Amino acid sequence: MFDTMTVTKAGGALCGALLVFLLGNWAAESLYHTGPEAHAGEEVAQAYSIDTGASEGGEAAAEEGPSFEELLASADAGAGEKVFGKCKACHKLDGSNGTGPHLDGVVGRAVGGVAGFSYSDAMAGHGGNWEPAELDHFLANPKGAVPGTKMSFAGLPKAQDRADLIAYLQSVGS
Ligand code: HEC
Repeated sequence: MFDTMTVTKAGGALCGALLVFLLGNWAAESLYHTGPEAHAGEEVAQAYSIDTGASEGGEAAAEEGPSFEELLASADAGAGEKVFGKCKACHKLDGSNGTGPHLDGVVGRAVGGVAGFSYSDAMAGHGGNWEPAELDHFLANPKGAVPGTKMSFAGLPKAQDRADLIAYLQSVGS
């Protein structure tokens, strides 16, 4: 009788250990599988951009889907207000400057055009106006679009976010 119990317990412990081991294995495997899959996706994107011409590699990947003009035409300024939450730490919309220049009326405004804000040489010497497409380009990758800018912001990777945000900025006065 006692012997049977011992055997049962030992068997139970063994099964338990095996189960934990299998679960761990399964978890590890599912983690492991995400890597190669993500990689495969990247490789597909890269193969695609090679097809469309080497010089446009980066842009080709970003331009999948509707164009910026199409996105802006149907953009949601309400959603853009939420996206602006990422800019609030540095940019105000009440005409006063913070870490960055105020952004009320920025759409169409001269680049580096806020009097009294000390821009980087890169921004001050950029020229042109912040037309929607120009803003879209800058916000996708600030340091790539204006090398030397002192705006420490990684960029908004989603085209929809940028279009919504620009629609919102358009709505907040000039
Ligand atoms: C960490 C602070 C910081 C954050 C976050 C930030 N910015 Fe800036 N931004 C700056 C600074 C500083 C400058 C001035 C850059 C220069 O002079 O090179 C700037 C410049 C700009 C300009 C150019 C303005 C002009 O007058 O020419 C625009 C447009 C802009 N930011 C938009 C945004 C938007 C939109 C966001 C949010 C998605 C954002 N920034 C997030 C700090 C920031």
